[in-house]
Amino acid sequence: MNKENAIALAKRAEAAREASYSPYSDFAVGAALLTADGKIYTGANIESSSYTPTICAERVAFFTAVHAGERSFAAIAIVGGRRGEPLSAFCPPCGVCRQVMTEFAEGDFEIILYDGDDVKIHTLSELLPLGFGKDNLKT
Ligand code: THU
Repeated sequence: MNKENAIALAKRAEAAREASYSPYSDFAVGAALLTADGKIYTGANIESSSYTPTICAERVAFFTAVHAGERSFAAIAIVGGRRGEPLSAFCPPCGVCRQVMTEFAEGDFEIILYDGDDVKIHTLSELLPLGFGKDNLKT
């Protein structure tokens, strides 16, 4: 994806971040997931007072899309930072979200990080090398 399209997707993630429910960490994350046929599903992190049930923005976006029947994905943009403040740093996806991505996306799936100014584009295989996936269960 070119830089212009990556920033456009990241802006969708930035808008989705507004819906974050993050009273415990005060860290608001937004994600915008692009399907192979051009649809966008968004998500934001949703926290719990017992902490463990908290779900990341990326998984909200993925699970919403999968529940809608989507199975083919091209890219996800992720933004995060102190709740109520503008973006100031890149927010890479946590390990659990990388594992969920590998369930539904291929190695060339693009992960776009945006700090409010610049974008970084990585592939899933770069961010989760030697990941355990469905093919490993067949051996
Ligand atoms: N968070 C995400 O939503 N995505 C990530 O990849 C990293 C962390 C959320 C979880 C929690 O609500 C807050 O950020 C602080 O960890």
